Amino acid sequence: MQHLTNKRVLLGVTGSIAAYKAADLIRRLREAGAEVRVVMTDGSKAFVTPLTFQALSGLPVHENLLDKEAEAAMGHIELARWADVILIAPASANSLATLAQGRADELLYAICLAADVPLAIAPAMNKHMWADQATQDNVRLLAQRGVLFIGPESGDQACGDVGEGRMVDSETILSRLAELFTVGSLSGQTVLITAGPTREALDPVRYLSNHSSGKMGYAIADAAVEAGAKVILISGPVSLEAPDRVTRINVQSAADMEAAVKEQINQVDIFIATAAVADYRPVTVQQDKIKKTETRLTLELEKNTDILAMVKADYAKTFCVGFAAETHDIENYAQTKLKQKKIEMIAANLVGAKATKTAGTFNSDFNELSVYWPGGNLKLELASKAKLARQLVALIAQRYTQYEITAHNENNVISLKSN
Ligand code: PMT
Repeated sequence: MQHLTNKRVLLGVTGSIAAYKAADLIRRLREAGAEVRVVMTDGSKAFVTPLTFQALSGLPVHENLLDKEAEAAMGHIELARWADVILIAPASANSLATLAQGRADELLYAICLAADVPLAIAPAMNKHMWADQATQDNVRLLAQRGVLFIGPESGDQACGDVGEGRMVDSETILSRLAELFTVGSLSGQTVLITAGPTREALDPVRYLSNHSSGKMGYAIADAAVEAGAKVILISGPVSLEAPDRVTRINVQSAADMEAAVKEQINQVDIFIATAAVADYRPVTVQQDKIKKTETRLTLELEKNTDILAMVKADYAKTFCVGFAAETHDIENYAQTKLKQKKIEMIAANLVGAKATKTAGTFNSDFNELSVYWPGGNLKLELASKAKLARQLVALIAQRYTQYEITAHNENNVISLKSN
């Protein structure tokens, strides 16, 4: 179940006799590599205690909308932003009615309103309640809004009835959930991603670097794999695990990164430069540790190659996506870089004090991006880097398809002219 690795699943448990089945679901989700946070409605606590789910998920269970302490630690808005997907299993008839009405009188429902992520629902109720016109109307309305229904299935029911209304098994829920993350839009393409900082040595113990953690680049690598691409990740020094099914090449300096990119670029269709590459390196790297004998020390620096600009200049067919980290005037600087580097797309993000006021950018799990391309732009609102990466990869896939069609048409025109 590769597509659930590192996914953040917010599991809502509602008042149904099938609430006990959520215990198995949590275990399976965690085995599949997902992080699980459980939100229980009041009704569900009549069937299972929060302690059971806390023990299985390894995290406190969220219960109350108006709990000051819980809201301060991780409130409904943070939980909505945290999730990559919301799964309600089991979902009672009452929960379907509440969701259909858009009410927010319990924590789970407030999260569903605040979140901008897929919502999957595994209903569980008595067959007559499921078949009732009111429930069926609610199901239709929710499905029209894009909610994914998983089940229910037919079979023996806890009340002694036999019929449709049983919650489907954990295996089925997991595989339907995983499908939500299988985009397939980059299938057959090779994507090269740079990520993290570079380190420019001053002497054997010191270097110049920056605050990049690699999280944005690694999330993009993950999303590109999900989208079906073959992914090569050239990474500066970070403390992140290599994502599944990604070929990672570790580098230290900008010159190392440049060499590694040159080695790989011939086989690449799309280049995404997320790395915060040092613009300058010391002219001389001292053989021995610099001694603190002087009161002032002047460092002479020289420019590193702009890797992104070099790729676009020397490998023109590669679809190039840059990043721009700016402390102000984002659009202006991003548009300038887009034009100067002659690239196909740029994703700009705020760094520095203004970014810290929201969720930060460097080393944060969250970000917001303003994406520009010749003749268009799109704002990707504040969300987890995992979610943003998926949105960005979907946009790249869309623009790349357009780019391929244009290139193909131009080639045809050229060959017609030369005939
Ligand atoms: O790693 P995180 O903690 O998750 O933080 C993410 C991030 C802030 C590092 C990331 O989102 C980001 O903005 N990366 C680009 C940072 C940057 O160096 O921007 P820039 O404006 O200096 O460079 C513009 C573009 O040229 C970038 O795509 C960069 O990779 C590329 N570049 C820059 C210099 C250079 N010598 N070679 C390059 O390829």
